[in-house]
Amino acid sequence: MHLVFVFVLVLASISFAFALRLSALSAGLSDKEMSPRIAVVTGANKGIGYEIARGLSLTPGIHVILTARKAALGQDAADRLKQEGGQVSFHQLDITDAQSIQTLRSHIESQYGGLDILVNNAGFAFKMAATEPFSLQAKETLKINYFGTLAISNALLPLIRANGRIVNVASQAGLISSLKSQALRDRFMADDLTEKQLSGLMKQFIDDAQSGQHQSRGWPSTTYGVSKIGVAMLTRITARDIGRLNSNPGVLVNCYCPGWCKTDMAGWDRAPRTAAQGADTGIYLATLPPGSSDLNGHFFYDRAQRSW
Ligand SMILES: NC(=O)c1ccc[n+]([C@@H]2O[C@H](COP(=O)([O-])OP(=O)(O)OC[C@H]3O[C@@H](n4cnc5c(N)ncnc54)[C@H](OP(=O)(O)O)[C@@H]3O)[C@@H](O)[C@H]2O)c1
Repeated sequence: MHLVFVFVLVLASISFAFALRLSALSAGLSDKEMSPRIAVVTGANKGIGYEIARGLSLTPGIHVILTARKAALGQDAADRLKQEGGQVSFHQLDITDAQSIQTLRSHIESQYGGLDILVNNAGFAFKMAATEPFSLQAKETLKINYFGTLAISNALLPLIRANGRIVNVASQAGLISSLKSQALRDRFMADDLTEKQLSGLMKQFIDDAQSGQHQSRGWPSTTYGVSKIGVAMLTRITARDIGRLNSNPGVLVNCYCPGWCKTDMAGWDRAPRTAAQGADTGIYLATLPPGSSDLNGHFFYDRAQRSW
């Protein structure tokens, strides 16, 4: 009698799970869509990153892991978004710190089992009036903007699930046309440029800045611009190689320029755009629907494709 009762109970549970699944399917939801898509936004305690985190966290079906290098600032930002109704949690991340990156990766793996959206927004620029030597500025700017973005991307890429979206925040200050040497332009734009070669070019710029030869070797006099050329070309390489780097289908990798926005980085007086306006294309790219396979490996401005 007892056995029969257990059997009926098990059968009832299976039927209930099946019914749930059926109702989800009839509502057009897959298993994955029943749990939120997980998004990581780097450098999201303020500025454009905060607005991207805000937009994504207020989008139904997305949970944002808002990251920042300073825990108190990041936690405060996440709390503000929660008060607005955002689905968000905070996790510390300094993209130049290997241990910090590893800790975030383990957190995502254990808590969520994977990642659906990565927005590489964290960035840095010396002020125009900065007095640090150009060579030091080159090293520091590329350390964060290029090598930091590369490190967090490579760490989280294997966790990206099917139809995942990677969005890198680049800049119009980092267009290939700003390189003064045709030979350099050709090297950056080579169809078979590897990540290793790209990193080599970034190191070459740091060395040329150190020896005071960056201008004669065809580099522009902007460390920020060169770092963003690196981010843009990294986007191109990652998108091209995505099938080898991540076996899940439908993953798209793009970058964009938010335009000149009022933030701590770009200043508050002359910039014509708000950070929220600058966030718009980032949110658009992060939420491209499944089937947008033609939108992979491009540079965007105001939701439109632009040339490198
Ligand atoms: N504003 C513009 O006009 C403009 C134009 C084109 C592109 N962009 C790009 O847009 C992105 C956001 O810039 P923003 O204007 O919003 O600047 P922002 O207000 O200065 O914000 C930059 C964010 O990056 C974070 N960050 C810096 N170094 C980091 C590191 N090592 N690890 C983790 N986070 C780090 C900052 O953290 P802290 O608060 O701790 O410093 C901050 O959260 C950047 O990639 C920037 O290059 C901006």
